[in-house]
Amino acid sequence: MKQKFYITTPIYYVNASPHIGHSYTTIAADTMARFMRGALKKENVLFLTGTDEHGQKIQKAADEAGLSAQEFVDKVVVQFKGLWEKLNISYDDFIRTTQQRHIATVQRALQLLYDKKEIYSAKYEGWYCTPCEIFWTQTQLSDSLCPDCKRPLEKIREVNYFFKISAYQSWLIDYIKNNPRFIQPASRQEEVLSFLHINTLSDLCISRPTQRLSWGIPVPFSKEHVTYVWFDALINYISAVGGFDAKGDYVSGWWGDDTQIVHMIGKDILRQHAVYWPIILKALGIRMPDTICAHGWWLIDAAKMSKSVGNVVNPLEMVDKYGIDVYRYFLLKDVPFGLDGNFSEEAIVRRFNSDLANDLGNLLYRTLTMVEKYYQGAVPSPRNEIYDERITRIVACLAGLHRQIEDALTATTFNFSLALEKIWEPVSMANKYVEDAKPWNLAKEGKKEELEAFIRILVDVIRQVGHSLSPFMPQTASQIEAQIGKNKINKGQPLFPRIENTR
Ligand code: ME8
Ligand code: MG
Repeated sequence: MKQKFYITTPIYYVNASPHIGHSYTTIAADTMARFMRGALKKENVLFLTGTDEHGQKIQKAADEAGLSAQEFVDKVVVQFKGLWEKLNISYDDFIRTTQQRHIATVQRALQLLYDKKEIYSAKYEGWYCTPCEIFWTQTQLSDSLCPDCKRPLEKIREVNYFFKISAYQSWLIDYIKNNPRFIQPASRQEEVLSFLHINTLSDLCISRPTQRLSWGIPVPFSKEHVTYVWFDALINYISAVGGFDAKGDYVSGWWGDDTQIVHMIGKDILRQHAVYWPIILKALGIRMPDTICAHGWWLIDAAKMSKSVGNVVNPLEMVDKYGIDVYRYFLLKDVPFGLDGNFSEEAIVRRFNSDLANDLGNLLYRTLTMVEKYYQGAVPSPRNEIYDERITRIVACLAGLHRQIEDALTATTFNFSLALEKIWEPVSMANKYVEDAKPWNLAKEGKKEELEAFIRILVDVIRQVGHSLSPFMPQTASQIEAQIGKNKINKGQPLFPRIENTR
């Protein structure tokens, strides 16, 4: 493990309100950040999120709302920040691409690349997809629709600036092959490599004529152009943490060799992160991030949930209905990170009832009830050790738990659902133990020492499970801690009462 950990989410477009997909990446990154703050010194973890505020589609949304672009983005950004607060997102920094620190870094990067002759101007003719902010050449098209999103393309003819990414294709292929942890999961690495084998990269158009679009960062060497929104956006990961010195070297404590740098994204923006971004960094002479981790999509009836499709679910509504941690738990547990998943309220309720009400909630509540009933609320310290094989097994399971969570999260694949499965193992063992050992019989038969040892191990399980859950379900972890107390319990209401009827 490196000394420092820097994790980022995508910076989301502020053309519309955040939806479940945005909250997913941010919750995953938050969980990693919280876990790493426990594993490293707190001040050695940096968690960055933010918003992508330039470009044509934001200009268009502002026009439609009858606001200036700046007024419009200022309004939407408040919704993102509000949602993150509601979801207990512990970000350390929030970058907006309209901030001066970002604009300055983008302009400096452009100037450096221009001076190195990595950027040149040329006449461009082709097709453009505004919702995706992507250029397409005639040969890439089978009709006049965007190959990615299937919406109509615009024909475009203009003078623009181009970044020579074609020169880096073979370097990139080698880099990816030599660094198998660079793109995660492995299936995404294969996807990028096969894209690079099949296609010849064309140079990247990194400008837009001001005539057509003025809402962007001015290109420092041309009054007639603003910066292409993707070039602008990717730079956020470095503009948030450093800058260029007089020699043009990038300086930042968070981008040094002792930092593990992770970009968490959805698979929709894999190409920009796994092809354009490493090439931009390489051309600027800046080190690569360690990992680009691309997860799958939340779908609704087999279609990607997206603003442009118009099938979005509002996370605030789900949180109000089911609670923050139930929502966090559902997203992290229901689908193995990396794969697509179907979102539905039925699925939330199913997860809730089985894992949270039946397993965790039940263990907690029955344990608290027994401590209250048999010990007047004071957690017993067993007078003698009881060598029960079931206790020994639970103790062993608890002893190995932290390591298993760490392996699931920090090995290459950010396996949140596996980590949660591991946390549920002692919960199931303890619940099974209650059913087998029948404590009410131990009490009736006056087997005092057995009962003490038994209750004690249940309390130990709850304490440790509560603690292990804190990166995933921070509020629940504190509630469990409060209920189980230090020596005396505070039995409150059941944390997760079963949901009997939906709608
Ligand atoms: O692409 N399922 O912003 P964006 C899972 N500004 N995750 C989803 C999702 C879904 N259905 N829909 C969106 C942009 N996401 C650029 C990024 S970064 C330098 C610039 C999540 O608002 C997922 O993380 O379209 C995806 O990559 C991101 O939102 C795209 O957000
Ligand atoms: Mg998008």
